[in-house]
Amino acid sequence: MKILLTGGTGYIGSHTAVALIDAGHQVTLLDDFSNSKAAVLDRLRDITGTAMDFFEVDVTDEVGLEKVLSERTFDAAIHFAAPKAVGESIERPLLYFKNGVGGTVALLQAMERHSICNIVYSSSATVYGMSDDLPLREDAPTEVINPYGRTKLMCEEILQDLHQADGRWNATALRYFNPVGAHPSGLIGEDPQGVPANLMPFISQVAVGRRPVLQIFGDDYPTPDGTGIRDYIHVLDLAEGHVAAVEHLASDPGYDVINLGTGNGISVRELVDAFERVAGVPIPTEVVGRRPGDGPASWADASKAADVLGWTARRSLDEMVADVWRWQSQNPDGYPD
Ligand SMILES: NC(=O)c1ccc[n+]([C@@H]2O[C@H](COP(=O)([O-])OP(=O)(O)OC[C@H]3O[C@@H](n4cnc5c(N)ncnc54)[C@H](O)[C@@H]3O)[C@@H](O)[C@H]2O)c1
Repeated sequence: MKILLTGGTGYIGSHTAVALIDAGHQVTLLDDFSNSKAAVLDRLRDITGTAMDFFEVDVTDEVGLEKVLSERTFDAAIHFAAPKAVGESIERPLLYFKNGVGGTVALLQAMERHSICNIVYSSSATVYGMSDDLPLREDAPTEVINPYGRTKLMCEEILQDLHQADGRWNATALRYFNPVGAHPSGLIGEDPQGVPANLMPFISQVAVGRRPVLQIFGDDYPTPDGTGIRDYIHVLDLAEGHVAAVEHLASDPGYDVINLGTGNGISVRELVDAFERVAGVPIPTEVVGRRPGDGPASWADASKAADVLGWTARRSLDEMVADVWRWQSQNPDGYPD
């Protein structure tokens, strides 16, 4: 298949590009570099042995999108491009609605003009809100707890409405749990700008000496060790989930929502212990108060992805840590400018 990846130089997009090429597909990447660097393209070429077909375009820019879709043909798009920081979304909701929702609408309009009616959308487990009905199934009630989560839910609903209005559309919203890890080459990985909002990049920056201590937000949750529990999934497993999802669109599945997680919960302390053991580096920690908006525990019911897509996460926690550590120690300051 010929596939457009918006946000293709980002963390999940770049790993998905590798997985798609490995599976024999052709990819075109689109990104505005608002949260990624051009160096990713060189690294992708080194991994795949193929120069990347790339357009520097903002997904909210209708003229730019039209240029891409008129110069290339596509069977499907995977839409990653969006800002993703929960805290920033509370401070700057319009940025999130413009990029997250407006960008999605602009992309769908451009696709419709070119009769490309297959899309995989990056949604998030954040749409389950603070639900403690574990494991989280796709039919669990959704709840918005911040503007970022609202953009994800709104885009899911837009895709559902679009399929209802025009049965040619096939749209799968993938609800990611917590992607971590990196490509085993150590050439691509997660490179957050500023203070990482996610646990794994924070741990790896402490390990490499960029930050002095890991703050643990609360150790008084009703969990076995008191720290929060999440479903961490290797980014290459996640990437392979996209390959399965985009290939599944060829069977005309209509609109669907599917979790991508492992189905296993790991606590903050368990993740820190695994990192210290696998990387052989001590991680100083300091317990501070709970972070607003964080629930005690979240993990996926991963059975729908297995049933519908024939996909299951297969990489272990130790592989996640080993791959993050390889990426971080080879690139202590992330990608070069
Ligand atoms: N990483 C996670 O924990 C996680 C969890 C659930 C959902 N998601 C979603 O998955 C998607 C990809 O996440 P990621 O972790 O790879 O993030 P990322 O920031 O690494 O990648 C997103 C990419 O999109 C680009 N981008 C942002 N706005 C754009 C715009 N207007 N036009 C063109 N490009 C734009 C950025 O430059 C970046 O390269 C996002 O939609 C995110 O909300 C991520």
